Amino acid sequence: MNETATIILDGKKYELPVIIGTEGEKAIDIRKLRQETGYITYDPGFGSTGSCKSAITFMDGEKGILRYRGIPIEQLAENSTFVETAYLLMNGELPNRTELNQIRVQLNDYSVVHEDMQDFFKSYPRASHPMGILSAMVNTLRSFYPELTNTEESINKTFLRLVSKVRTMAAMSYKISRGHKVVYPRQDYTYCANFLNMMFDSPVRSYEVDEELVKALNIFWILHADHEQNCSTATVRVVGSGQVNLYAAISAGISALWGPLHGGANQAVIAMLEEIKNNGGDLSNAVKKAKDKNDPFRLMGFGHRVYKTYDPRAKIMKKMCDIVLSKLTKSDPLLDIARKLEEVALKDPYFIDHHLYPNVDFYSGIVLRAMGIPTNMFTVMFAIGRLPGWISQWKESLDDPDWKISRPRQVYIGKNRTDYAPIGKR
Ligand code: SDX
Repeated sequence: MNETATIILDGKKYELPVIIGTEGEKAIDIRKLRQETGYITYDPGFGSTGSCKSAITFMDGEKGILRYRGIPIEQLAENSTFVETAYLLMNGELPNRTELNQIRVQLNDYSVVHEDMQDFFKSYPRASHPMGILSAMVNTLRSFYPELTNTEESINKTFLRLVSKVRTMAAMSYKISRGHKVVYPRQDYTYCANFLNMMFDSPVRSYEVDEELVKALNIFWILHADHEQNCSTATVRVVGSGQVNLYAAISAGISALWGPLHGGANQAVIAMLEEIKNNGGDLSNAVKKAKDKNDPFRLMGFGHRVYKTYDPRAKIMKKMCDIVLSKLTKSDPLLDIARKLEEVALKDPYFIDHHLYPNVDFYSGIVLRAMGIPTNMFTVMFAIGRLPGWISQWKESLDDPDWKISRPRQVYIGKNRTDYAPIGKR
């Protein structure tokens, strides 16, 4: 029997349908609420509001569970590659050998960027933030590939084109920002190896691809590949709901990710750890400021709208710090500070009572630093990882019979009707 929710408004009883998800999550279907009752709901930040039904990613914030198409993130990080995981998110199943080889060939074919685009990159001031450049350049791709339609074939081609070219453009942006020669993708390199080579190869010092770093980069991007209806994915869905082209929707998602409360947190964590290091490693001030209600400072890399326990991705990322640093026979004083900060925070009643734990961004910057990625590219690295998730979620919205243009309502708290006052009477 279908479950319903009963509400009584102005003395009248209403029955609203309840939707139950695969994992037992329940939602009150309020689509007809205003039409039947004249009431709307109020939920700034959408903490209690479901915007869609989705079969792509499942999260349990209380248990710290994350699964892509049902597969636990821990198994994907252990066994998969980023390209294989991107295929899984988009197509719903892991690729077989033939399918995997096919997408590898296509990603290679789509890996170069139109030569004219280099002039655009070169026109940016050298100190430009790469996230602003990336968002603009993804929108610009539409000018070079205007033929995108909503056919399966065209969408799959654009999916692979974006996954491959965004990675190439990120490396191009880095090289051009340093006045270095652009390094082209190579047919004999895998997706992640190509990125590292495009970033670090140079005419005077050839880059030796390190398979351990390639594996670490695969895991890094697998961990970032999707996360249900987060701020940037919700943005891609909202912008896409107006039926704009995919490039514009992804460009909007990149902009949403840039914020320090979202994907920009990985860069902000490093700035916070460096400030603590420069203060002689004194953690107490950061913790004190984070707990001070009158201080806007937040402990970056801590807390999450959904996870009220340890972010499962942060656990894997923390382990990767040791692996990558020991592989490179490097140490990083910021890792020691991060570990101490975690230890202090997780014992502090404020963080315990507020369910604040390390999230994916807390340790990710340490891994990227060890790889030699510049700090201002950390959020670009997040964007490359999240791209398959954004596109999969956008595609799912196209196929959703419930989907319509996003247009939230509001509670008006401004003036009642007021007449226009001529300038002489103001
Ligand atoms: C990502 O949504 C996703 O899935 C995002 C993401 C993804 O993969 O797409 O996981 C990636 O964006 C991870 C989050 C990265 N951001 C940060 O690390 C920035 C620091 N974190 C916070 O700003 C905060 O925790 C948020 C933004 C992540 C979540 O904020 P919420 O859910 O809106 O919580 P809130 O701001 O309403 O805070 C609730 C309480 C408040 O205290 P009270 O007023 O209730 O007493 O917790 C406190 C906050 O002051 N709080 C923090 C804190 N985070 C929340 N206090 C100190 N430090 C923090 N980091």
